[in-house]
Amino acid sequence: MSNVLVTEQVTKSFEGLVAVNKANIVVKENTFTMLIGPNGSGKTTLINCCTGILKPTSGRVMLGDIDITGWKPHQIYDVGFVRSFQIPLPFVGLTVLDNVLGAMRNVGEAPLKAFNQRNWADQEEENMNRALDILEKVGLEKHWDLPSSSLGAAQLKMLEVAKGLSSGARIIALDEPIGGVDTASAHEILSHVSRLKKEEGLTFLVVEHRIDIAAPFADYVYAMDLGSIISEGPPKKVLSDPKVIEVYIGKGVEQC
Ligand SMILES: Nc1ncnc2c1ncn2[C@@H]1O[C@H](COP(=O)(O)OP(=O)(O)O)[C@@H](O)[C@H]1O
Ligand SMILES: [Mg+2]
Repeated sequence: MSNVLVTEQVTKSFEGLVAVNKANIVVKENTFTMLIGPNGSGKTTLINCCTGILKPTSGRVMLGDIDITGWKPHQIYDVGFVRSFQIPLPFVGLTVLDNVLGAMRNVGEAPLKAFNQRNWADQEEENMNRALDILEKVGLEKHWDLPSSSLGAAQLKMLEVAKGLSSGARIIALDEPIGGVDTASAHEILSHVSRLKKEEGLTFLVVEHRIDIAAPFADYVYAMDLGSIISEGPPKKVLSDPKVIEVYIGKGVEQC
């Protein structure tokens, strides 16, 4: 299995506060890699450093063979790394299908090329079929013509994943995909993610604090505390690591 994403000694400081401290993680291709840790441990900051929302203070971020350190989010998106946010941001005025179509790279993005391309209509039809296929994979096929504003919390998260997938992503980072949804919906979301991993060969980097629900879906886990990676390995190993148990018990699980 090749490495899709590697962080080498990534550090991010905010005026003296070291939010991420020399973090080394490796996300292997076609895995569900989970990042856990108490509130404020640096999970979102690390993901932000990987996806261009923040520039690391030091260290290196590699996407396959490409050094993407300090790249802008749209440049990172262009090389197949997409992230979703804790709070999904759909184009609320558009339907579910249009949100997915809007995230696709189509020939219309290159107007001159499109002008010369006689099969533009074919491409549009292909995109439509692909968008419907993606919606089926994330369980939103019945809602394709509804405005995205009518979706519930869990469905909005899946719309985020669908948009990532339609943009041709190889790796999708999800920040708390099951945050704020009930347990049954959380299982549903993670099952869809798992299925996408298998069927589309995608790689997922998932930040999650509801580790009891998410851990069974994970192939590999990194645990953070105070900006540092304190444990890594298969879920069972990390969750039984005394260092991890201590930070969770020490800070109270309800805060994590
Ligand atoms: N933009 C920022 N400016 C200053 N401090 C920040 C900023 N973003 C995060 N932090 C701080 O960095 C630490 C890690 O935050 P964060 O990465 O959001 O943690 P997590 O996602 O694990 O809850 C926290 O102490 C937080 O207050
Ligand atoms: Mg966070």
